[in-house]
Amino acid sequence: MKPSHFHHILSYIILTITLTPNITTLAIRFPNPISQVTGNPPDQFLKTAVFSLGSFWRAESVFGCLDGVVRTTVGYAGGSKSNPEYRSLGDHAESVQIEYDPRVINFRQLLEIFWSSHDSRQVFGQGPDVGNQYRSIIFINGTDESRLAASSKEREQTKSRSSIVTTQIQQLGTFYPAEPEHQKFELKRNPFLLQLIGNLAEEELEKSSLAAKLNGYAAELCPPRIQSRIDGKVNEIIRKGWPILRDV
Ligand SMILES: *[C@@H]1O[C@H](CO)[C@@H](O)[C@H](O)[C@H]1NC(C)=O
Repeated sequence: MKPSHFHHILSYIILTITLTPNITTLAIRFPNPISQVTGNPPDQFLKTAVFSLGSFWRAESVFGCLDGVVRTTVGYAGGSKSNPEYRSLGDHAESVQIEYDPRVINFRQLLEIFWSSHDSRQVFGQGPDVGNQYRSIIFINGTDESRLAASSKEREQTKSRSSIVTTQIQQLGTFYPAEPEHQKFELKRNPFLLQLIGNLAEEELEKSSLAAKLNGYAAELCPPRIQSRIDGKVNEIIRKGWPILRDV
C-alpha cells in the first residue's frame, strides 16, 4: 500500500479508534515483527555517525529505513553558534545523527547511502532548499572514518570532473538535537502509521527504531526491498481486519 492511500482508510481507522475500547491491543501487535529484524544491542555497542545532506527531514527518512540503524535524530551541527534553533541556526547545517549497530551496517555503507541520497555537487543547497544550512558534510570521528570519508569523496569526484563535489569533511563536534516538531517529521504527517505503532509519546517516538523505519517508509525513501517489506507488514495488518462497527 502506498502512503498516498492512507487517506482513504483514515476515516475508517478513526471510527475504529473511537468505537473500539481494545484498539491498543491491536495497535501494539504491529511493532514486534519489524523491531525483531535486527535485535538491537545495548546502547554501549552502538556507534554514532552524523551527516548533513540538505533538509534534515529528508535525511532522517533516508537513513532511518536502513537495517542496522537503531535510532535517528535530526539536529544542527558543523557550526559554532551555541544552542541553535530552527529559525536561528547560525552557521550550522541541518544534520542527522544516526546510531547504528556496527554488526549490521558500517560507516562505509552509510557513506554509500550518503552519496546516493543527495547531489553533492550542488552549491549552496539541495533542490528547492537554498542556503548554507543545506550544505553537504560528512562528520568524522577518528582516523578510520577520516580515511574512509576522504577516499569515498575522491571516488565520487572521479565519477565526473565537470563539476566539483562540494562536500566538506569535518571533525564531529557538538550535535544539537532539533526541536521535537522536526523529529520523525514525515511519520508525524501520517496519522495512520502513527496509530499503527500505538501513538507513541514524543520521547518514545524519538528513540524508537520502528518509528525511524516508518518515518522513511512514510516518505517513500526506503530502499525498494525495505519499502516493500514494510508494505507487506502493513497490508497484513489491514488484511487481518480491523474491527468494524457493522450495526448498532
Ligand atoms: C568518537 O569515537 C570514540 C571512540 O570510538 C567514542 O568513544 C566517542 O564517543 C566518539 N565521539 C563522538 C562525539 O561520537
